[in-house]
Amino acid sequence: MGKASETAEMVAAVRAAYHYGPEAALFDDPYAINMLGPQYWLKCRVPFLRQHYMRQGMFKRLKSSLSVLSRARYGEDQLAVAVKNGMRQYVILGAGFDTFALRAGAEFKEVTVFEVDTLHSQAAKRKKIRTCGREVAPDHRFVAVDFEKDKVGAKLIESGFDTLKPSFFSWQGVLIYLEKEAIIGALKGLADIAMPGSIIVADFMDGRLFDPGFLQTIPEIASDLERLMAHTASKGEPIVTGFVPTEFAELAEGCGWTMTDTVNSKEFAAKFLDGEPDYRWPTEFDHLVTLERVQ
Ligand SMILES: C[S@@+](CC[C@H](N)C(=O)[O-])C[C@H]1O[C@@H](n2cnc3c(N)ncnc32)[C@H](O)[C@@H]1O
Repeated sequence: MGKASETAEMVAAVRAAYHYGPEAALFDDPYAINMLGPQYWLKCRVPFLRQHYMRQGMFKRLKSSLSVLSRARYGEDQLAVAVKNGMRQYVILGAGFDTFALRAGAEFKEVTVFEVDTLHSQAAKRKKIRTCGREVAPDHRFVAVDFEKDKVGAKLIESGFDTLKPSFFSWQGVLIYLEKEAIIGALKGLADIAMPGSIIVADFMDGRLFDPGFLQTIPEIASDLERLMAHTASKGEPIVTGFVPTEFAELAEGCGWTMTDTVNSKEFAAKFLDGEPDYRWPTEFDHLVTLERVQ
């Protein structure tokens, strides 16, 4: 990717739009708005444009937009517990415009955060952080990695990652854009540097959605997905990979990680949101998983 990720801005816009609406109960990101260029900023910040945007614009294309909030809540709730129990390294893989570094409260002050992404996405993010007058902690590390080409474990170690400390990794909104070989390479590379007890939280799209026969049975989701895939491909970020959870568990096990939890985004969001699912309700085809490094 020779430019900053546009899907990173797209999902930051989802978080920004929800910040100004009732679904903030699921996950609230007050700084996402600072990560947006002028077009998305207007759509999220100006109330009638936001209404239109959520009903007619991007959210029509991305019906499962609440999954963006579900996965963030799923990851950060577990991070909070891990940090309470002594975890002191947090690695955000494919961080994009994740704003944890700006939102983190005092309970995270002893945690060293590593943000891993492409050089171009990181350059754009650092500029946005400077422009909005905010800053990250002095020991925050930006680690430039292309998962398709680089060895993420080696890059983390070069950046001061401590192999003697258990670590919490989040890998959200990224696996769908990577070839399986790159995912396997990264999981193995992380297993090599991660202390037992380390955790990965990740999300991925259901692999059955790549099967045209299966898609025929869920026409509404099929048409959304077709639009979403065409959109991300037009931005140079095609969606290429999906798994069913059992397949991912097997793949992860072969790389040194044991799946300890799996839930679909719809079930997970239902714990936090009241009422009947509406047009934005996440689908059961977005999976959230937790992996643990066991020796
Ligand atoms: C949809 S965004 C998700 C960002 C963030 N995790 C979030 O949930 O807001 C996908 C991110 O994955 C990163 N990404 C995609 N392919 C990558 C690769 N081969 N190497 C490193 N990062 C990659 C993009 O730069 C982008 O920031």
